[in-house]
Amino acid sequence: MPEKKTSRLSGFYAKPLTERIAAVSEWAELSVVETATLSGGLTPALANQMVENAIGMFALPFGIGVNLLINGRDYLAPMAVEEPSVIAAVGNAARLARAGGGFQTGSTPSVMIGQVQLLDVPDLAVAAQAVLAADPVLGKLVDSQMPSMVARGGGFRGIEVRPLHDTPVGPMLIVHLLIDCMDAMGANVINTAVEAVAPLLESLTGGRANLRILSNLTDRRRAWAECTIPVSAFATDPVEGFSVAKGIADANAFAWADPYRAATHNKGIMNGIDPIAIATGNDWRAIEAGAHAYAARDGQYRSLTDWRLVDGSGGPALFGRIELPLAVGIVGGATRVHPTAQTALKILGVTTARELAEVMAAVGLAQNLGALRALAAEGIQHGHMALHARQAALAAGVPADQVDRVAAQLVAEENVKASRAAEIWAAQRGEDNEQ
Ligand code: MEV
Repeated sequence: MPEKKTSRLSGFYAKPLTERIAAVSEWAELSVVETATLSGGLTPALANQMVENAIGMFALPFGIGVNLLINGRDYLAPMAVEEPSVIAAVGNAARLARAGGGFQTGSTPSVMIGQVQLLDVPDLAVAAQAVLAADPVLGKLVDSQMPSMVARGGGFRGIEVRPLHDTPVGPMLIVHLLIDCMDAMGANVINTAVEAVAPLLESLTGGRANLRILSNLTDRRRAWAECTIPVSAFATDPVEGFSVAKGIADANAFAWADPYRAATHNKGIMNGIDPIAIATGNDWRAIEAGAHAYAARDGQYRSLTDWRLVDGSGGPALFGRIELPLAVGIVGGATRVHPTAQTALKILGVTTARELAEVMAAVGLAQNLGALRALAAEGIQHGHMALHARQAALAAGVPADQVDRVAAQLVAEENVKASRAAEIWAAQRGEDNEQ
């Protein structure tokens, strides 16, 4: 029987870059060509096809979030991100979650919302009834726009009407088309559908269609993740373990009640989600918009996660949960075109968009756990010092092969500044030249 692959890669961070690349290539069975995409992938010619006025490409570091156990399966998370500590935090938190069996996840079908804005409607109530009664006709028209989506099991799922009585320009009727986009993010499909049905909606309502566009508040397309971690996983001393877990639950309550904290808390969650969206060629602005709108769904902007102390089977435990809209695809758009996005999907090994969304939810929860654990225990700066020191050294112009040496001295001096890095580098260069 083939050996079960584990993402529990102890000491991965300490390996040289070439060994890490080799390990991930072997893990994901990447071809030589696929491995080569890890250091670029996109060509100027391809970039020129993707956007207007292209003049080049912009690279980001590409790393791997390790230790993820999700629904009993091991995953390596491809993450494109410029911020130090983000990828390390995912690995640390995912290791903690393994003590409770990892993450359990779920998701809704990939139902997106397309909106049509109808103005100058003579009677909102009558118009709303007429639209709802036309559900079968509208459904047929929508499905006729997307035969391959329908063949794959997706397509029209229903109509909703939202009369808005009081807007700055007076009353209007909003019609929602609900469409299952399966493994596509779905923006193109939705926008085609709303444009196709708008004339029929005009004649049904007597109104005038203005905007016809998808909604990024994709609250019918959600993913969630949970974990239950014994408090003993947080420290060898049980009292200290309990106190760290309680600190995390207390921190979550702060973000639930205070939008100023919730914005930072949720930014930390997106630190985990966006890098996977970027690495897999997904639209991270759409994901951000949906997440933050959803966080304010009850009228106050709140935390997207919930952390609380519970009685676990083996004693006190910390239970965590996240649920958010996640409109991501594994076909179409940049996901299909960008060679590195294809490699990122292969590293993940996901076979559906829903599975991708669930992994992203789990990584968002892990990222939040990593941040809250550090904040509630030693503070965030402690663990960040070494990584910030490397950035300070790079910012001071220290060559890449000398960065670790200069960074080590910045940390030893507890003075992590680019100006100090420049002084240290100048002194070391002087010494090296004398030898
Ligand atoms: C930094 O990028 C993210 C944090 O501020 C998140 C948080 O405070 O929860 C550390």
